Amino acid sequence: MTVDIQVGRRFHLPELSRAAEKAQNLDVGDILGLDIDAELPDDPAAVALALIRDTSVSTEELRIAAERRIAQRSPRLHTFVPLYTTNHCDSECKMCGMKKSNTRMIRKLAGKREIEDQLRILLEHEGVAGVGFLTGEYEDEYTRQVNAFRIGWAIRTAFDMGFQRVYFNIGSMTTAEIETLGEWIDRDEPVTMCVFQETYDRHTYERFMGSKDGAPKADYDRRIQSFDRWLDAGFKYVNPGALIGLHDIESEMIALVSHATYLARRGGIVDISLPRLRPAMASSSRTKVDDQSYIRLMAAIAFVCPDQRLVLTNREGKALRDSVIDLCGVISPGSPDVAPYRRGDDIVNEENSSQFLVADLARPSTILKQITDTGRAVQNFAPDPH
Ligand code: SAH
Ligand code: TRP
Ligand code: SF4
Repeated sequence: MTVDIQVGRRFHLPELSRAAEKAQNLDVGDILGLDIDAELPDDPAAVALALIRDTSVSTEELRIAAERRIAQRSPRLHTFVPLYTTNHCDSECKMCGMKKSNTRMIRKLAGKREIEDQLRILLEHEGVAGVGFLTGEYEDEYTRQVNAFRIGWAIRTAFDMGFQRVYFNIGSMTTAEIETLGEWIDRDEPVTMCVFQETYDRHTYERFMGSKDGAPKADYDRRIQSFDRWLDAGFKYVNPGALIGLHDIESEMIALVSHATYLARRGGIVDISLPRLRPAMASSSRTKVDDQSYIRLMAAIAFVCPDQRLVLTNREGKALRDSVIDLCGVISPGSPDVAPYRRGDDIVNEENSSQFLVADLARPSTILKQITDTGRAVQNFAPDPH
């Protein structure tokens, strides 16, 4: 393993007021007119704030300018399909159906054969060679370690079956847990750690994720530092995110863009997720961020982070997906139910065993085919595998 001189570095949140000051001094007209490969005049976060705030620029104009900046990226899109391997969880996130206190949730844990079978369905029937493994987040060190070991096995199994790209989304990770999972993979295999901060605002974080003694996910610092530990261990792929609907969009954007930019400077290959809140069992769905504001947010981020890929899921329906597809670099259709894929049928998304409800229940291959039919190539998807 090569020695990384940045080992031990940790991300720190920027001052919001500082970004706002910088944004005020920027000329949005100049920025929109920049050559595609010209450098931004200031911090990406400050530029994004200037773009999103300037109401003299329509969302449509902003979207087109952002699309132009990322049009040369190759491949244009790639895909992975989520595979929830269990819906057990020790945490208490208010917006999530899997929270421990939701006693009406039917708990499930997929075993070796079921996981292998799901992977075979994805490869052979959906034509997909990218997968993301998910679990809850656990309290005691034994369960956390066993979970890391189990997901390490799942990742190894996916690569050995022919998957080209793997993501995992299992909550925060300590150095010891990364070691356990990391034993199953090589440093150069494309494995992306996903740990969405949900909100970068500590107060809102506590409101939704609870206080430290109440739930494992309530540890804000352990969560936000997971990527630094992953990069320290010699891995490269990271996926931060914010759950849109929990907190004010502008401050989340500044924090998320700063986090993504910081990780890229550390040498990370960064995808950015902006999932929007969906209905979930036993959960309070907060005020919805409207489509225009959401598209504007995506456009501003795509503009300032042309080397980072926005992830789009079927939490959003087809109309919204169609309008933002060229702002995105990853398309990830699937279901947040446990082992939900069926040979030649719609996906399963039962309220009483799913994390939340998606907007579009079509099979992954149907959603992906709609995109390839418009002439856009999607890496890790081969239509009509039969
Ligand atoms: N248990 C892991 C994996 C989370 S699943 C963890 O908490 O880190 C991936 C993401 O789904 C979450 O990080 C969150 O951003 C999103 N999510 C949770 N509840 C949601 C809801 N009601 N609607 C839409 N997305 C949700
Ligand atoms: N929540 C994870 C994410 O957004 C997993 C996921 C990917 C997902 N694609 C999805 C969940 C589609 C539901 C539907 O990265
Ligand atoms: Fe558990 Fe993750 Fe849901 Fe929180 S968001 S309750 S950690 S599954």
